[in-house]
Amino acid sequence: MSAAVPRAAKRLRLAPSRSWVCSECRRSFVSSVRQRQQQHGQEDKTTHFGFETISESMKASKVAGVFSSVASNYDAMNDFMSLGIHRLWKDHFVRSLNPGVQYASLQEQQEGQRILDIAGGSGDIAIRMLDHATNINRDNKTHVIVSDINPDMLAEGRKRLSTTSYQADGRVDYLEANAEDLSAVKSSSIDLYTVAFGIRNFTHKDKALEEAFRVLKPGGVFACLEFAPQLSNPLFNAVYKRWSFSAIPLIGQIVAADRDSYQYLVESIERFPSQPEFAQMIKDAGFLIPGQKPDGTSIEGGWEDLSMGIAAIHKGVKPL
Ligand SMILES: C[S@@+](CC[C@H](N)C(=O)[O-])C[C@H]1O[C@@H](n2cnc3c(N)ncnc32)[C@H](O)[C@@H]1O
Repeated sequence: MSAAVPRAAKRLRLAPSRSWVCSECRRSFVSSVRQRQQQHGQEDKTTHFGFETISESMKASKVAGVFSSVASNYDAMNDFMSLGIHRLWKDHFVRSLNPGVQYASLQEQQEGQRILDIAGGSGDIAIRMLDHATNINRDNKTHVIVSDINPDMLAEGRKRLSTTSYQADGRVDYLEANAEDLSAVKSSSIDLYTVAFGIRNFTHKDKALEEAFRVLKPGGVFACLEFAPQLSNPLFNAVYKRWSFSAIPLIGQIVAADRDSYQYLVESIERFPSQPEFAQMIKDAGFLIPGQKPDGTSIEGGWEDLSMGIAAIHKGVKPL
């Protein structure tokens, strides 16, 4: 690779917004990646890692590096990224799904729900799910599999869940797996599949959606909570983008001595599909989407914006 390439890559990665990225640098970097692939006889496609263009085969390990690095500062990271509101979003996300089986039905069917929380390493969603099932629905049978590609994040979740009674009661299991290949999970075995702030990091989001569809029972629900690339109000969007691109990497540097990981996390939000695009991807995977127009031509309101569209909840149902 020429000496100019690492410099170009660095400029791409640190560029604060897409429009400020030097197009010459972007072209030179992208073509250098292609050249390198040809030199090594690779057919590997490229993808993005934040604003960087990298080969697809490198993405999972680069993402793993980010989350291994932030695992021990995970709460602080989420607080910076969402201005502290992620806790309220997660509460709302879980309440909206009403996990668990209501007490009366539980007496009849004797079984709780089987929930799969993908990219769930922090344990945040699993704990809320089990709290809701237990305290609201009086269901002490619902079970959660916490799955994550990263053993360091899974270790964080395990540590948190070990302070609750759920682990001792056998209501939680852990699975180290890539969301794009859930071969360890049986087809049509899951009632509720959740993914919170994880899917934007996946290399092939379409494969993850296909796997979600496969593992869900007919009638099962796919639910995703994720940052969105644009706020609905252009003025707030400009303020929020300025905050996230200038402050978050700086805070990452000061608090965790890790500017690069935080820079990636901000950039990865920009790269995530818009709400209509992502709703269409969910539909393409086979799910029924709430809010779809009767003629099926387009999707309107098949998601719920949170805090003016800083984040959004998407849902889909596997047809019966
Ligand atoms: C921002 S954290 C979210 C953790 C948790 N869901 C929450 O909301 O607190 C993103 C998680 O996605 C996981 N992740 C990234 N790529 C993944 C993949 N391909 N398959 C499964 N998990 C992945 C990371 O390891 C990390 O734990």
